[in-house]
Amino acid sequence: MTLVSEVRLRQILDSRGNRTVEADVRTESGGFGRAAAPSGASTGEYEAIELDPSEAIASAREHAVPRLEGKVFVGDQRDVDRTLRAADGTDDFSEIGANSAVAISMAAAKAAADVLGAPLYQHLGGAFRGEESPTPLGNVVGGGEHAADATAIQEFLSVPVGAPNVQDAVFANAAVHREVHDLLADRDIAAGKGDEGAWAPSIDDEEAFEIVQAATDSVADDFGFEIRFGLDVAAAEMYDEDDEEYVYRDTTRSTDEQIEYVAELVDEYDLAYVEDPLDEDDYEGFAELTEKVGDRTLVCGDDLFVTNVKRLETGIEQGAANSILVKPNQIGTLSDAVDAVELAVENGYQPVISHRSGETEDTTIAHLAVATGAPYIKTGAVGGERTAKLNELIRIEQNVSRL
Ligand code: PGA
Ligand code: ZN
Repeated sequence: MTLVSEVRLRQILDSRGNRTVEADVRTESGGFGRAAAPSGASTGEYEAIELDPSEAIASAREHAVPRLEGKVFVGDQRDVDRTLRAADGTDDFSEIGANSAVAISMAAAKAAADVLGAPLYQHLGGAFRGEESPTPLGNVVGGGEHAADATAIQEFLSVPVGAPNVQDAVFANAAVHREVHDLLADRDIAAGKGDEGAWAPSIDDEEAFEIVQAATDSVADDFGFEIRFGLDVAAAEMYDEDDEEYVYRDTTRSTDEQIEYVAELVDEYDLAYVEDPLDEDDYEGFAELTEKVGDRTLVCGDDLFVTNVKRLETGIEQGAANSILVKPNQIGTLSDAVDAVELAVENGYQPVISHRSGETEDTTIAHLAVATGAPYIKTGAVGGERTAKLNELIRIEQNVSRL
């Protein structure tokens, strides 16, 4: 156990070129940890509050840093995170900012691992589960809030369910990403990339389904294992509350039609995963869809649950979804994120640890996924801020299996 001796905060760039908060934590015994907050674009209404980075830093320096330096042991992550909450004094981190909170929380965990001379996943895993590799969900085509004039559905995700290990899974997702590019080129469709590195062609969703199916089939043949695909509909972003309908490029759907539509997609494309198929307030709709297709696909709540155990409890009571997306910055601390994972697992919900569309080189989520034994991690397919996590998973896998 070693005391925090110094917390330094600064602004750095994220992958979108926006400013974000980075924290350094030093300990009296010479331990060091550094971490940075990611940032969403299609943020859920119920997420912890991300402040302007300069305000978040000023407020954390005033309220949180004096309570940590010389007072809190880095090895006790719960105490670090309780201290951050007490320093903030609100239930959504609107005083110091969830961006300051999560950066400090993750940096403290890394400093503790450094003191122990252990990888972060081992330090985090001490109190939690085993050391299995998660299956990476790779974003290969997308639009929504992550790219203008592209698909209505935010993300088409490659899911290498049959991969024998994380390394092959990561390579397969990158191959699907490349294959999608080639199939688009065959059709003379130009495409830039969206915020998470997925192709963002100006095509309708139907054409995207065709292309992603062809790409996953072809790469599955090459690699010799099963690759399915899934979606992040991010339906809250397309829901019009006044008209109570989901707005697509050239059509609209009522809630009943949306449930029917997504259920049909699950069967037509054998989807392995469907995230946020309905609005973030619609527990009932989630429950109805889960009842229909939950035996054959993951119905995952991102904006619905926002990594918040209270919202997850409501979902569990109602049978809404069977999976939860876990983003530490949605709730503000690592301990809160771990609580969400544990409540999920106790209730048969599959946790999916996730990046944000605005990311940095920080690799904490790769360690969190391994430490909690999460079956899935969503962290893109290509791009430096995405491969930072994917390559870390490959290293962890080698470390764990002593290959
Ligand atoms: P965000 O998108 O990071 O822009 O919120 C990711 C997601 O919706 O899963
Ligand atoms: Zn999402």
